[in-house]
Amino acid sequence: MPNTTSGVAAVALAIDWQAGDQILCFDGEFPANVTPWQQAARRWGAHVQMAPLPDPRGPCEDWLGDVAARLARGVRVLAISAVQFQSGWRAPLAELSALCQRYGTQLAVDGVQAVGCVPLDVTALGIDYLACGSHKWLMGPEGAGFLYIRRERLAALHQTQAGWLSHEDPVAFLLRGGGLLRYDRPIRQRADWLEGGNVAAAACAGLGASVGILLELGIDAIFAHVQAWHDRLEPQLRDLGLEVLRHPEARHRSGILAALPSPGVDVARVQQALADLGVAMSSPDGRLRFSAHWPSPLDETELLARHLAAVLRSDGLGTLPS
Ligand SMILES: Cc1ncc(COP(=O)(O)O)c(C=O)c1O
Repeated sequence: MPNTTSGVAAVALAIDWQAGDQILCFDGEFPANVTPWQQAARRWGAHVQMAPLPDPRGPCEDWLGDVAARLARGVRVLAISAVQFQSGWRAPLAELSALCQRYGTQLAVDGVQAVGCVPLDVTALGIDYLACGSHKWLMGPEGAGFLYIRRERLAALHQTQAGWLSHEDPVAFLLRGGGLLRYDRPIRQRADWLEGGNVAAAACAGLGASVGILLELGIDAIFAHVQAWHDRLEPQLRDLGLEVLRHPEARHRSGILAALPSPGVDVARVQQALADLGVAMSSPDGRLRFSAHWPSPLDETELLARHLAAVLRSDGLGTLPS
């Protein structure tokens, strides 16, 4: 799969929808995990419900209760990101998966803000589908990614996106002589039937190299390192008057450390001013988002805080507490 969207769309277009099926998505999600579901709903007469997400710093029991009530009324697919792109909130996938199993709902996860930095076991969590691009926490090139499909879900999917490489023994006619060019070989009953044509081999090789490093370091160790980086930056952000969106419990934390600026601060200009100082960060939906990974040294947080203080002080970009 070349990116997250392709993986989500492949699933959304392959499910055997019935008119009136309900799809549960969440307000605030990155659109990659909403648009394909909307398209599938349009095509097959299903309906996308948009539910709220919980406060990224608070308890989520009431929210899980609301999700359970929605599933109890009948939901075919629940689609959520493992980690929210704006806040870094890590979804309680074990609890969601248990609810999905209780109510016969399929669980589809956008993994791109989690995989590579946050421990995530699709089998243990009972996830049905997980789509992921490689250019974020997997630190691979754009153009490579993957889609996980739980084996038990395969048989019910429509193989509408099959291509020439989806057949059993698809390259026989290219490699084993004449008389083998046929169009009636069965489509494979494995998830890789979705790879119907050639893939971006160079990007996949880059992804493979990066995954090798991540596995050698270990995802638990990477997560611990990134949390140590966040532990160090968080109080410095608070001292600068920023409202940090980090959850008190590790199970809801991720690689993203996001903060809300004081009212009136132009985050796009803060981002640009930091970029001019050599600091790469992003400002999705008005948040300041810091994303350290395994190569990020802990002591760079002091330099970052100094640059941020200078930027907030300068040019009316923000106000610092006295
Ligand atoms: C949660 C989430 N999903 C998906 C994407 C991107 O999707 P794609 O890999 O299809 O470009 C992003 C950001 O780029 C994201 O934050």
